[in-house]
Amino acid sequence: MILAACAASQAAAHPGMGNVMAEIAARTHPKVDTRLADLVGDLQGQLTKVGNTIRQTLDGASAQSRNSGYKPPGTLGSKSCARDACCAFYYVAQDMSAAFIDGQSCNAAARGAIRLGFHDAATWDKDSPYGGADGSILLAPEEMTRRENGGLEAIADQTRAWYNKYRGFGVGMADLIQLGAITAAVSCPGGPRIRTFVGREDDSRAGPTGKLPSPFASADSLIDLFQAKTFKTSELIALMGAHSVSQQFTVDRSRAGASQDTTPGRMDVRYYSETLTNDNRSSVLVFPSDRNLALDDDTRGTWNRYRKDQNGWANVCFDAGASPS
Ligand code: HEM
Ligand SMILES: *[C@@H]1O[C@H](CO)[C@@H](O)[C@H](O)[C@H]1NC(C)=O
Repeated sequence: MILAACAASQAAAHPGMGNVMAEIAARTHPKVDTRLADLVGDLQGQLTKVGNTIRQTLDGASAQSRNSGYKPPGTLGSKSCARDACCAFYYVAQDMSAAFIDGQSCNAAARGAIRLGFHDAATWDKDSPYGGADGSILLAPEEMTRRENGGLEAIADQTRAWYNKYRGFGVGMADLIQLGAITAAVSCPGGPRIRTFVGREDDSRAGPTGKLPSPFASADSLIDLFQAKTFKTSELIALMGAHSVSQQFTVDRSRAGASQDTTPGRMDVRYYSETLTNDNRSSVLVFPSDRNLALDDDTRGTWNRYRKDQNGWANVCFDAGASPS
């Protein structure tokens, strides 16, 4: 099963991907790198063209987009724009890019948007009857009061403002939040351009509790938590690279603003080395969760691989990030 998945992935490999896939194939731990419930919900049934593309992405096709060539068929509010499901989102993304880039770097709003996308999506796992990327983090008032969502207030306000501006043009909250994360990623130097899919259903019920990771968690518990969301361990390690653009305010309040690598305006693999070597010196603060994953027997091989391979990391990270969790 592992070999079949690797072969499928390699067919769509990018430069740098080969090494990562070879490393994954060489792993023997049965608990690691087998996707558990890869196709859930609608993806098990008869698929539309878009559904099929999503399914192929989960099976290993790249989630990255090679170009930014979408041309809107009309201005926002025009009939031709209203007929094209992507059109309004083009205008949203333009607003977002302007808010996310400061000169040569992405900024605090971009960092917040990536984390907001993760926290809306991650209230789901395969045992959850509802939850996930459904907009509930901003539609259900309770969710933003949860401790784990501390620090997201500013991007929550900004995203609500975008929602009020664009909801009349068919833009839902769930799609808006994920588009924010995707636009933020490509706004960070080194970050990938991820394909955008829209059409998620909004849900104003607060998502299930206990599904978000703690910065004090052990490697084993994090592997289990993400496996329940159908992420392979290598994908978890790749996703952790999002902390390349992270600044903490809630883990240690006496060091508010401390980043998780020395370049929080860039999406780079520096985070992987600095999590191993930086003992809270200088401006960097290393979360115990991240250090645990960097050192664990099951994960440190992958961790060290990404440390030296920006392309391999970006390809796995943002192909994993596209999973519908
Ligand atoms: C082991 C798993 C994870 C843990 C324990 C964790 C925990 C945290 C914590 C405690 C913060 C600091 C929040 C604050 O104090 O303001 C943070 C920030 C952040 N996290 Fe995670 N996280 C994890 C995985 C992820 C994933 C998978 C993503 C995205 C794909 C992500 C994206 C971010 C981003 C972008 C920030 C920076 C937010 C900002 O600077 O405003 N994290 N994370
Ligand atoms: C860095 O500081 C944080 C917060 O004070 C602490 O929880 C963590 O264990 C420290 N990390 C390392 C690697 O020393």
